[in-house]
Amino acid sequence: MTALMEIRDAGRTFNAGGKSVTAVKSMSLVFPGDSPRLITLAGESGCGKSTLALMALGFLAPTSGQVLFEGQDIATMADRHRRQFRRSVQAVFQNPFEVFNPFYRVDHTFHLALRQLGMDRRSSEARQAVEGVLARVRLDPQRVLGRYAHQLSGGQLQRIQIARALLLKPRVLVADEPVSMIDASLRILVLRQLVEIKEQLGVSILYITHDLSTALQISDELLIALNGEIVERGDPLEVVTRPRHPYTGMLVRSVPSSDPNDRWTSEIPDTPR
Ligand SMILES: Nc1ncnc2c1ncn2[C@@H]1O[C@H](COP(=O)(O)OP(=O)(O)OP(=O)(O)O)[C@@H](O)[C@H]1O
Ligand SMILES: [Mg+2]
Repeated sequence: MTALMEIRDAGRTFNAGGKSVTAVKSMSLVFPGDSPRLITLAGESGCGKSTLALMALGFLAPTSGQVLFEGQDIATMADRHRRQFRRSVQAVFQNPFEVFNPFYRVDHTFHLALRQLGMDRRSSEARQAVEGVLARVRLDPQRVLGRYAHQLSGGQLQRIQIARALLLKPRVLVADEPVSMIDASLRILVLRQLVEIKEQLGVSILYITHDLSTALQISDELLIALNGEIVERGDPLEVVTRPRHPYTGMLVRSVPSSDPNDRWTSEIPDTPR
């Protein structure tokens, strides 16, 4: 069966002020065609996670390797198919305060999506669709619509980002540190909603994080990246309890324990480079 989406040995090099910087050497991952999967990509700052996310979304072209959607390379696919890909793979970014234009009410984000769907935003069909996706992320339309971003919390804005993405009926959500800028108390709620979206709507998710403890709770597969490469991958519990790569072991040991009697004993080992 053809994979829904496959990132095959994708790499990306930038030219920064005459110097070549390799953000991603080579990374691969697969979302199968038959069942939704939540894949977590974890790793230290600068290892290439966001660059991979941008390639998965088609916002950045790989300089080596390929991104395939339903078996077709997105770099060479026909326009009609590319439009479908763009709708099918949606983003949730880290900083909700950057994503929303401060001069527009948050409704604007839905208007743009409705336009993409060819729906008249004043129609009752459009209103129902927006209310439906807001309900999915447990937001009351009366409390959020008509407001500006600064009048809402980071948690509400992240859920509005997710709702906007859902309006387009995506097959894949690429969520780059979606909860790192919101209150700890809300993080788990938003992550649970992502799992619900996977299970109830069949949407596959690429979840990017520094946080191995949430990754362990919600993902089907865990990928550990280091210096532009994936150094370890597999069942999350397996990866965390029996790390094979020294870097994974270091990441696992650096997760603070919730047991106050546990002493913080690990030293910072040399990171393999
Ligand atoms: N447009 C660009 N031009 C030049 N260098 C870039 C560009 N984008 C990313 N890089 C470099 O590529 C490397 C990987 O960046 P990337 O943003 O993908 O890392 P990351 O894993 O998302 O980090 P973080 O956890 O801090 O978000 C970094 O060294 C970064 O400075
Ligand atoms: Mg990043």
